[in-house]
Amino acid sequence: MKRLEGQVAIITGGARGIGAGVCNVFCEAGATVALWDVLDGEVTVQEIRARGGDIFFQKVDVTDKNQIAASVQYIMDTYGKIDILINNAGIIRDRSFTKMSDEEWHSVLNVNLTGTYNTTKAVLPHMREAGYGRIVSASSVNALLGAFGQTNYAATKAGLIGFTKSLAREVGKYGITANAVAPGFIKTAMTESMPEAVIKAGIAQIPVRRIGTPEDIAYAYLYLASKEAGFVNGEVLNVNGGIIS
Ligand SMILES: NC(=O)c1ccc[n+]([C@@H]2O[C@H](COP(=O)([O-])OP(=O)(O)OC[C@H]3O[C@@H](n4cnc5c(N)ncnc54)[C@H](O)[C@@H]3O)[C@@H](O)[C@H]2O)c1
Repeated sequence: MKRLEGQVAIITGGARGIGAGVCNVFCEAGATVALWDVLDGEVTVQEIRARGGDIFFQKVDVTDKNQIAASVQYIMDTYGKIDILINNAGIIRDRSFTKMSDEEWHSVLNVNLTGTYNTTKAVLPHMREAGYGRIVSASSVNALLGAFGQTNYAATKAGLIGFTKSLAREVGKYGITANAVAPGFIKTAMTESMPEAVIKAGIAQIPVRRIGTPEDIAYAYLYLASKEAGFVNGEVLNVNGGIIS
C-alpha cells in the first residue's frame, strides 16, 4: 500500500515551485490532492494526471475566507474528509526596512501568516471531528538567519514557527499534528529572479554545494504528512543542505 493511499490533502500554492513538487510527490504516494492557488493550476494538474495522479484544481486565494470556505465545503461534500493541510503558499516583497512600504509589509503578512491562519481555521474543525490530521506549514531558513531586505518575510516565517509550536500543543490530543518545514535555498520562480552572482554566492555557503529542488522539500513534507510521523509534533524540519540546523 502506498504511503498516502486513501488520504485527502490540500496543498496551497501548488501551481508551481515547491508546491507543485509537493503535489507531485503526494500523488505518487497515493493521495487525492486539492491544489489551491491564485494562479491557474490546470497545467500542473494535467501533468500530474498524465502520470496517473488523482488531483484537481481549486482557485483559492488564502487571504479570501469565502473562497476557502466554499472549497473546503466541496471537498467535504465530495470526499467526506481532509487528512492533510500543507500551508505552502507564500510571497516575497523584498525591500530594505527603511524603504519598505506599508503595503509591502502588510501584503506579506497577509498571505504568509494570516493566509495560514485562514486555511487552518477552516480545515481544523473537520480534522478534529475525524480525530486525525496533519498540518504542515512553510517556514524558511531565513526565519532563523534573517536576510537583508526581508524583515517582512522573515517575520512571517519566524511567526509560523511560533504558530506551529503553539497549535501543536492545542491539537495533539485530537490525533492532529502541526509541524513546519524550513526550506533553504531552493530553485523556483521565487529564487530565479535573483542575480546570478547572488545565486553563486548562496550556493558557496551550502555544505552540499548545490541549490535545493522542490522534490528535496516535498519529501520532507511527505514524511511529516504521513501516519508514521504521528509522534512528531511542533517540530521544524530544516531542509537546507546543512547551512543551519
Ligand atoms: N524557494 C525558496 O528558496 C524558499 C525557501 C524557503 C521557504 N520557501 C517557502 O516555500 C513556499 C513556496 O515557495 P516557492 O519558492 O515554491 O514560491 P513560488 O513563488 O514559486 O510559489 C508560491 C506559490 O504560492 C502561490 N500563492 C501566492 N499567493 C497566494 C495566495 N494568496 N493564495 C494562494 N496561493 C498563493 C503562488 O501563486 C505560487 O504558485 C513559500 O511559502 C516560500 O516562502 C521557499
